Amino acid sequence: MPAFPETFLWGTATAAYQVEGAWNEDGRGPSIWDTFSHTPGLVTGGDTGDVACDHYHRLEEDLDHLAALGVGAYRFSISWPRVQPGGRGPVNGPGLDFYQRLVDGLLARDIAPVGTLYHWDLPQELEDAGGWPNRDTARRFAEYARLMGEALGDRVRTWITLNEPWCSAYLGYASGVHAPARTEPAAALAALHHLNLGHGLAVQALRSTAAKGAQMSVTLNLHHVRGVSERDADAVRRADGLANRAFLGPMLEGAYPRDLIADTASVTDWSFVRDGDEATACQPLDVLGVNYYNPTLVRQWDGDGARETADGHQDGATSPWIACEDIEFVKQPGPYTEMGWNIDETGLTELLLRLHRDYPDLPTMITENGAAFPDQVSPDGRVRDLDRVDYLHRHLSAVNEAITAGADVRGYFVWSLMDNFEWAHGYAKRFGILRVDRETMERTWKDSAHWYRDVVAAGKLPS
Ligand code: FCB
Repeated sequence: MPAFPETFLWGTATAAYQVEGAWNEDGRGPSIWDTFSHTPGLVTGGDTGDVACDHYHRLEEDLDHLAALGVGAYRFSISWPRVQPGGRGPVNGPGLDFYQRLVDGLLARDIAPVGTLYHWDLPQELEDAGGWPNRDTARRFAEYARLMGEALGDRVRTWITLNEPWCSAYLGYASGVHAPARTEPAAALAALHHLNLGHGLAVQALRSTAAKGAQMSVTLNLHHVRGVSERDADAVRRADGLANRAFLGPMLEGAYPRDLIADTASVTDWSFVRDGDEATACQPLDVLGVNYYNPTLVRQWDGDGARETADGHQDGATSPWIACEDIEFVKQPGPYTEMGWNIDETGLTELLLRLHRDYPDLPTMITENGAAFPDQVSPDGRVRDLDRVDYLHRHLSAVNEAITAGADVRGYFVWSLMDNFEWAHGYAKRFGILRVDRETMERTWKDSAHWYRDVVAAGKLPS
C-alpha cells in the first residue's frame, strides 16, 4: 500500500460537551445537553457531562499528549454556551479565554487547530425560544460564528460550522434520543433547514472575519446506503435523500432534492424554506468533513412480521427516518463494535469515491472515525486494544484505497483522543486511544495510541 500524501493531515478529535466538564464554571450557561443529561432516565447510568474528562482543567496535559502523539492537527469544538451563555449578546471573556489558551497551546506545539462551532450543545435559552425549528436560531448561530471569527479567526486553520446536522435534526427533534429530546417530525425538518441555513450564514460570517487562508468546512455523517437487493433501489433513494442529499443538496448545490420534498409531503410542505435560503446555504467550501463509522442497509418492507429498525441510532419513541414507515433498516453481518455497529470499511472507500464523482472539485477530510470496544486494563496497566488497532488499520486502508483511486482526501482524525461522554450512552462506551480512568481522571495510552503515533510518524500503515 502506498504511503499517504506528504501533506496528509493526521489528527484526533473530541467535542466540548464530551470532554470539557466545568459545566457551570466561569460564566458558562446551560446547554440542551446539560438539560438532557440532568433529566433522570435519559442517559445510561445517569451519567452527565458535568465533569466529563475534566479537560477544562487539564488542558496543558492533554495538549502534551497530542504533541507526544505527533499529530499535525486537532479537531475540537467550541461550547457555544461557554462563550455566549444565552446564545446571544456579548462574549463571555473567561469562557473564551479557555479557547484562546487551547488554540495558542496547539500552535505552540505546531498542531493545526481545527475548530467546530457546533457539536450539539445549543444554549438552553435558544431551545426555550424554539430551538433549531425556529428560524431565528440560524441568525443567532451566524452571530456566534462572527464573534468566534473575530476572536480566533487569525489562528484557527480550518472552521467546521456544524457537526453532523443529521443527528441534531433527526435524533434531537424526531426520534428524541438526543437533546432536546423532542419527537416532532415536522419540526425536525424545519430544524434541518435552519441548520443548513445557519451553516451558510456562518460561513459568510467567518469569511468576513477569519484570516484569508482559513479553510471553511462542515462535517456530515454521510450514510453509505445499500439495498438488500435490486428491488430495494427506491428505499435506497429515499434513505439517501434524508441522510445525505438533504444536506449535500442545499449546501453544495443550492437546492433541496425534489424527491426529498415529495417523499416528506405528508409531514411538511417545506414552507419554512424562503426565497434565497438555498442560495445562502450554498457557500463555497474548501473541504468537506466526513464522519464514518459503518454503512447502512435498507429493504422495502412488505408489512409482514416485525419491521427491522437496526439503523444503529437507538430506538426512540418515533423514527429518525421521517416518512420511511415502509422501509426496513436491516441488521448487517458482523463483526461489530461495542456500539453494535458492524465493521465494514468498504463503505468508506465507496462513499469517498461517490463524493469525488459528484463533487470532483471539493476535497474531503475524515473528521471522525473510530470504535468503542470493552477495553480491559491488564495487571501491568496496559490496554491491549488490538480490536481498535484493527478497526483503525482497516479504515485507514480504505482511505488509502480511495486516494489511490483518485479521491482527494486531505486528512484523517481518529475519534477520539480520549474516552469520553458518549451522549445517551454516558461513559459506558469507550472510543478513546487514551484511556481515562473515571475515578482519577488519569490518562493512559492504549496500544492504539502507540500504534497511531507510529503511523503518523511514518506517514503510512505498517505492512
Ligand atoms: C458521532 C459524534 C461524536 C461521537 C461519535 C461516536 O456521531 O459526532 O461526537 O459521539 O459519533
